[in-house]
Amino acid sequence: MKRVITYGTFDLFHVGHLNIIKRAKQLGDYLIVAVSTDSFNEIKGKKCVIPDDERMAIVESIRYVDKVIPEETWEQKIADIQKYNIDVFVMGDDWEGQFDELKEYCEVVYLPRTNEISTTNIKRKLGLKK
Ligand code: CTP
Repeated sequence: MKRVITYGTFDLFHVGHLNIIKRAKQLGDYLIVAVSTDSFNEIKGKKCVIPDDERMAIVESIRYVDKVIPEETWEQKIADIQKYNIDVFVMGDDWEGQFDELKEYCEVVYLPRTNEISTTNIKRKLGLKK
């Protein structure tokens, strides 16, 4: 059983989110998605439109997702990898190189982002962001 984990905010859930979740699952048999909490986003200076319990409920209902956990700190990744016996850590390639230190614990894969869509773009279209 190959176990995969990925992290994200998943605000205003869009097809780029769906694609990375689907491709992450294809790298193994069991997929955990860590969804950042509203309090963690505050630390990062990020404000979500959709509250964390709803973002988690949406991600949890996706057929490729086996388990959702909260992402509450920058530092939890090593502990998560060990706790859940993770084989593959996945992020979009906007994070390329930034999690290479985790290669000590598991395989690290950066998947290409889906073009021309992001939460930021959607917020701009809705006039929620400049
Ligand atoms: N992602 C992707 N393709 C996109 C948008 C996001 O593959 N077009 C991936 C990111 O690389 C990340 C995950 O989806 O691994 C969660 O990204 P998140 O930051 O929640 O979404 P964004 O749309 O990038 O949000 P923002 O615009 O606020 O940065």
